[in-house]
Amino acid sequence: MAFANRDLTGIQDFTRDELMYVLDKAALMKQALHARKVDRYRLAAGKDLLAALLFYENSTRTRTSFEVAAQRLGMNVTGFAGVDGTSVKKGESLRHTLDMYEAYQCDCIIMRHPLDGSARFAAEHLGIPIFNAGDGKHEHPTQTLLDLFTIREHLGRLDDFDMGISGDLKFGRTAHSLAIALTKFTGVRLHLFSHPSLAMPQELLELMQEAGVEVTVYPTLTEAAQKTDVLYQTRIQKERMPDLTEYDKAKSISEFTSKIMEKTRDGFGLMHPLPVDKAAPSIAAELDKHPKALYKIQAGNGVPTRLTELALALGLMGNDFNGEVFRESVCSDDFVELLPIKDKPPRKDVSIRPIRNNGVVIDHMAPYMEEILTQVLKVRERRDIYRAATVKAASRPDSKESIKGMLMIEDRTLTENELKIVASVSPGCTVNIIENGTVTFKYQLRLPDRVCDVPGMMCTNKGCISRPEHQESVSPRMVKVGDSRVKCYYCEQVMNTSQIV
Ligand code: CP
Repeated sequence: MAFANRDLTGIQDFTRDELMYVLDKAALMKQALHARKVDRYRLAAGKDLLAALLFYENSTRTRTSFEVAAQRLGMNVTGFAGVDGTSVKKGESLRHTLDMYEAYQCDCIIMRHPLDGSARFAAEHLGIPIFNAGDGKHEHPTQTLLDLFTIREHLGRLDDFDMGISGDLKFGRTAHSLAIALTKFTGVRLHLFSHPSLAMPQELLELMQEAGVEVTVYPTLTEAAQKTDVLYQTRIQKERMPDLTEYDKAKSISEFTSKIMEKTRDGFGLMHPLPVDKAAPSIAAELDKHPKALYKIQAGNGVPTRLTELALALGLMGNDFNGEVFRESVCSDDFVELLPIKDKPPRKDVSIRPIRNNGVVIDHMAPYMEEILTQVLKVRERRDIYRAATVKAASRPDSKESIKGMLMIEDRTLTENELKIVASVSPGCTVNIIENGTVTFKYQLRLPDRVCDVPGMMCTNKGCISRPEHQESVSPRMVKVGDSRVKCYYCEQVMNTSQIV
């Protein structure tokens, strides 16, 4: 079955067919719940299934709607709502806490955690389905399913419409997951508004543009709202902002007021993942009963959508799905290309002494990368004799790349693992193996599909679960996203390879 035992950690891991199937099933569940047709939704009755809800951060809607959904399905629930009273307060790691709930034979885990990528770590660590109920500023995919459900319920479609997202586009995980989900549909025109300090991350804008989503950024909330069929307003995430002076500026321009509502299209719908902060309202309170305000219905849709997600992951429905199934892209371990060796006389103008006997020359690196390579290859710890410099590239003296990094190490060969490390931090470089003063092998290195085991490697996102300061013992892992860019396997932060060590 396509859905059984699947994790729900990121919305990208679902095809359009799969998303539509979940929404169709959720619509049936909503009808059954409203009509109290118990036999149509109590699919886990008599099966002794147990859901663990591990909420390290505050929540009203996500936790309660998952709990209600599990109970309506016929499951039992356990877990915690906030870490007070748990051994997290005694310093227990996420890994150990997860292990406990697996040891108690829970059938799935629904977790909210402040660190980006924590849900992907949990999914990698445990064999039971993990539901990401919000991981730091990264994603909130089960919110997105109820958001898509609400948009489709209101407009009757998810293609060819004007969607607005406003408020906190930088730290707001609901905005991130929704933006990613919109790339699965066609003809979506996305209208964005935020204070400039809370703009949508560049990598998400790139993802949307590559998928054909037409993105426009507006200077005011009114202008964005006027252009949309549905506007998704979000709370400024004060608790995630490092600079609170920016918070004050952002909140002063981010309230959706009655005046703005008056300028919206007929049939417009105002959405919000909630909560609204009453001290800095992202929606004026007088709009709560406005016919265009959808956010109460939206929150209610959390129960049928999450009930459906639980039932699918636990294999209680999903047999009749026959659409496109999501597949992870296949990773290749091929990163080395053997180059022909040109029989050239030794250059006279070289500024560093060549290797006269045996050794390795790493050439055509980005300028100043040689210092980083001496670290990752532990040249000094091994007490290798080496020469490292950024020099003029004789082959392209007039190009922008007229300088390059070089590292020569005497009496050293590189293992396959070391070649992979070099390829990871300096893709595109060449490696010459020297024996008795002549080049015996010449390689060009490409960025490997999977980057790990690089000494000193770290995700640049300080909120990532893999950062050492969080003491979660999660080794950093990256995956290739371009010729010289990688993204963190856990939090999906995109980085240049030169930034990873
Ligand atoms: N939308 C949402 O995540 O709300 P809660 O924080 O109340 O769960």
